[in-house]
Order: sequence, then structure tokens, then C-alpha cells
Amino acid sequence: MLIGGFGTRLRPVTYSVPKQLIPIAGQPMLYHVLDLLPSDVEEVVLATGYKADVIEAYVRAHPPRWPVRTVTEAEPLGTGGGLKNASEGLSDPFFFLNSDVIASVDLAAVARRHFAHGGIGTMTLTEVEDTRPYGVAALGENDRIVGFVEKPEPEVAPSHWINAGIAIYGRSVLDAIPAGRPVSFEREVVPGLLARGLFGFRLSGYWDDAGTPERLLRAQRLLFDAGRGGPGGLPAGSLGQGPVALLAGASARGASVGPYVTLGAGAVVEPDAHVENSVLMDGARVERGAIVTGSLLGPRSRVRAGHRVSGQVLGENAEA
Ligand code: GTP
Repeated sequence: MLIGGFGTRLRPVTYSVPKQLIPIAGQPMLYHVLDLLPSDVEEVVLATGYKADVIEAYVRAHPPRWPVRTVTEAEPLGTGGGLKNASEGLSDPFFFLNSDVIASVDLAAVARRHFAHGGIGTMTLTEVEDTRPYGVAALGENDRIVGFVEKPEPEVAPSHWINAGIAIYGRSVLDAIPAGRPVSFEREVVPGLLARGLFGFRLSGYWDDAGTPERLLRAQRLLFDAGRGGPGGLPAGSLGQGPVALLAGASARGASVGPYVTLGAGAVVEPDAHVENSVLMDGARVERGAIVTGSLLGPRSRVRAGHRVSGQVLGENAEA
């Protein structure tokens, strides 16, 4: 799994917390991605870089169901270089995942299709209206990918089916990645795989890449609506409506909270304040009478009494 990016679009929060540890619908983004893995996965390899030590410490303290190994890049190697750098000991085939994708996908079914067609890889695809930020696939017979363009202008996009950031590849893919330098998997490697049999697997359920504040909050709504939120319940003594995820020590007595809110560990919403469609990270505080909508409040940040905050991202310890 790739987890080495800087998360620039979620700054200033990502100056102190790596994107994948931001809690949405009650648990860090990374753990929602881990939840997708079939139970017979042998090991999870995290290709880390930015804030690798923070990720490693968190995973050690909150061990997932599978053994986890981290392989850290001294310098960012990009999506292909990161894979190459972490490739020793990978199984054949191996799942290749972005760590910021929130999706409804049956990875066991993706693996079955991969074995059935016998090609080099199977890339899950999701249909979107605006393809500009993504890699777009041209599909041939039996959903074989016959063309792939990264971030095309709309007039040259071959379809609306984009790389969903979840795939399975045979190990021989690794031979196509140059070692020891940054490599974009999508730009430099995927085009060369088409002749070796790269197939699409169309997703039909929800999908979101949680890389921007708006999409992170959308991902949180999708997770709650899919019943993947938790731990749940309205905080004791609060008003408002769920779904709300509440981490240890969070409180909102006399406040109105929800829908679609995560209150991180020790977060506090004071009486007469209102919070909806937002994430409050650990120790964030919304003071009396303040209103917070569509926002991501970093660790120990504070919204002052009576203030209104809408569509904002507050970094660690920031005040609004
Ligand atoms: P932005 O800076 O906001 O674009 O976020 P990002 O750095 O996470 O980039 P992007 O969302 O395009 O990355 C997609 C996936 O690849 C994420 O899971 C990233 O963590 C990961 N990733 C991006 N660049 C690298 C890298 O150089 N090395 C590794 N190991 N992973 C990377």
C-alpha cells in the first residue's frame, strides 16, 4: 500500500498528521482501506515516506488483523518508485492500493477475475463525471484496458472510467519499474503493461478519493451511509442527530452534533454549539455557541465562542 505522499491538499492539518491518520467516520482513513482486504492476505507492506515514523508508531499501537511491515523511502520515489522500493517479499500476485481511497469493493472478486483472465494485472475502475484529476482507461473487449491517459483534458479523455487506486498485479510488473529514482506508476509503467494484458474491473458501489477537504468529508458521509462508521452514538447529553462517531473522551454535553461528524479523542463541543458534516481531531474544541459546518479541525485547534466556521481546515493548535 502506498502511504508516502505529502498530502499537500489537506494542509495545514497534514503538516502535523499524515493524511492517512486523519479520522473519518470514527477511524483513520488507512484503517478503512485495510478493512477492504480479504482475510487470507498474508502481510501488509506500507510504502512510507512523509511522516513514516508517525505512521509506524500508530500502526504499532493499533495493530490491524494482518502483520504489517513498513518500507520507508529516504526521498519520495513516487507511486512506481515507492512500489519498487517496497517490492522485496511481495506475494505473486499482490494487491496494490492507494491509502486514501474509500470504496465499496470486493477484493476477493477482483482477485478471482485476475486469475480468470490470466493477464499481468487488474485495475479497478470507477465512473466519474469529471475525469481531469485522474487516470482514464479506454476499454476494449472483455474490459481489457487498451489505452490509459493520466489526467487528460476532457476532450481527449477516452472514457469516464478512471483508475480507482486499487489493483492486483503479478510480480513480473516489478521488472518494468526502474530502480533507484522517482517513477510515476501511472505515467511511466501502466502504458507499457497494456500489451501484457491489463484488465479493468468496474466498480458499481460508492467510491471517493479522500485527498481534498471536500472529498474527505464526502468520504465520511459515504462511510456512514454504508454503515461503516463507528464507534457510534450521540455523545451523552447532546442534542442533534446521527450519524456521529465518538472517540475516547470526546464530549458534547448541551451541544447539537450531527449529522456526519467524527469527534476525535478528547474533542469537546461546548453547550449551545453546533457541529455538522465535520471532523474534529484529537483535543479540538468548539466553544459555546459556535457553529461548525463542512470543516476539518486539526488536533487541539479551537473555534472561539460564538464564531461560525464553514468549509475550513484548521491546522494543529490553530484558532478561528
Ligand atoms: P497531495 O499532495 O495532496 O496530492 O496528496 P498525496 O501526496 O497523497 O498524493 P496523491 O493523493 O496523488 O497520492 C496517491 C497515493 O500515493 C497516496 O496513497 C499517497 O500516500 C501515495 N504516494 C504519493 N506519492 C508517493 C511517494 O512518493 N511514495 C510513496 N510511497 N507513496 C506515495
